[in-house]
Amino acid sequence: MRLHPDIERVLFTEEEIRAKVAATAAQISNDYAGGDPVLVGVLKGSVYFLTDLARALDIPARLDFLSIAPFVLDAGPRSNPINPMFNPGVVRILKDLDHSIEDQDVLLVEDIVDTGLTLRYVLRTLGARRPRSLHVCALLDRASRRLADVPIRYRCFEIPDRFVVGYGLDYQQLYRNLRYVGVVKSGIFRA
Ligand code: IMP
Repeated sequence: MRLHPDIERVLFTEEEIRAKVAATAAQISNDYAGGDPVLVGVLKGSVYFLTDLARALDIPARLDFLSIAPFVLDAGPRSNPINPMFNPGVVRILKDLDHSIEDQDVLLVEDIVDTGLTLRYVLRTLGARRPRSLHVCALLDRASRRLADVPIRYRCFEIPDRFVVGYGLDYQQLYRNLRYVGVVKSGIFRA
């Protein structure tokens, strides 16, 4: 495998991701046996993970997507030091779900849970629509930066406090289509 020149090191290879996704899908198929959950993906980061996960399930599942955008206020004290344009937790819906989730078993599929503020907002928003159940499946969990206590039922990998890209995750919309998850070189961050 050829490493992208902007990547410092690979955290999880394509094979490791595939194995973990299969194991997580087996667990989900078992827990939801007899049901047909709605997998809700948060665009765009969760797309690769969600589609691989969905194909690895042994149960029927429906897919729906939500797109959210952080409000860009200013580079004040709430700013993310990694990316000052990104203020976590102050979010709004850009594209809503296509279908009602009332009385449905909803599994929210996330790329990464960092501070947990985005997830808390999405969980509150979806929870208000009275789904039968609502749980979270996250590809990556960076628990060391958590600010909001959010319940994660399925998590594939814990990661250290480094910015990562690949397998859906981006930096300025790049690197999403890398087949692995890797740490970017610090030199690529633009002020
Ligand atoms: P949270 O609200 O701080 O948990 O942030 C969650 C969102 O921030 C994710 O859905 C990503 O869009 C973005 N994010 C956080 N950390 C990273 C990272 O290391 N790489 C790429 N995106 C990230």
